[in-house]
Amino acid sequence: LVGAGPGDPELLTLRAQRALAEADLVLYDALVDASVLDLAPRARRFYVGKRAGRHALAQREIERVMVRAASRGLVVVRLKAGDPFVFGRGGEEVLAAREAGIPVEVIPGVSSAFAAPASAGIPVTHRELARGVLVLTASPSDAYRSVLPALAHAELTVVLLMGLAARGEIASFLIEHGWAPSHPAAIVIGATTPRAFRWTGTLAELGAVDVPSGPPGVLVLGATVRLAAGAGLALPGVDFGGGEGAANIGESA
Ligand SMILES: C[S@@+](CC[C@H](N)C(=O)[O-])C[C@H]1O[C@@H](n2cnc3c(N)ncnc32)[C@H](O)[C@@H]1O
Repeated sequence: LVGAGPGDPELLTLRAQRALAEADLVLYDALVDASVLDLAPRARRFYVGKRAGRHALAQREIERVMVRAASRGLVVVRLKAGDPFVFGRGGEEVLAAREAGIPVEVIPGVSSAFAAPASAGIPVTHRELARGVLVLTASPSDAYRSVLPALAHAELTVVLLMGLAARGEIASFLIEHGWAPSHPAAIVIGATTPRAFRWTGTLAELGAVDVPSGPPGVLVLGATVRLAAGAGLALPGVDFGGGEGAANIGESA
């Protein structure tokens, strides 16, 4: 069970690279860069991904294919975007393999939950601004609705995955539940890929931002958003490598 990282093939781990080189079969997701598959020259490769509700194969079917191939003695790499255990249903796949008596190695990956803000110059923790980071899914909405109202004034960075399409609804909900309209907010899309896009602003503005369609994105809420180059807060001695073309990030107006 291998994490492929957030997009840029250079963010794959060495161990992931080794596993791919040894694989007989690679089952991969939608968000995995095609060039990563070239690292598995011996393997047959199958797309089993899902994007926004469209599934190539149902979860149970993926588990069955994995188990069947491994039972036949094949070295199977289940290649998942980011980290396999961060909203990737990796846990279910490990359990399915374990139940079938198949040994599994879990190779962690660089999760978009951290890589997306980092690549946009947003530190998820920062002394005196954010004492922690909370990673949540926005789908279903219950996941954030049950937690965030209590955190309007917490010194936290909140990273919401799978919330891009619901950004307006999320912003309205939070403002209705005590979050300041001026709370710093960011959108990071296609992080670490050539289609990277970053927007920074406030919760009040979040719903009206036009975003490029296609690549997945995260929402980032918290004071550290303002540390990103060009986002408005100049801290003496802090430089996140802004300047021209920083990290391939295309900014909205
Ligand atoms: C099903 S989750 C899988 C997360 C993955 N396991 C990880 O650790 O990054 C898919 C969500 O991850 C986020 N995501 C994945 N890759 C991204 C990227 N390159 N830039 C921004 N967000 C990304 C988006 O929120 C997307 O909806």
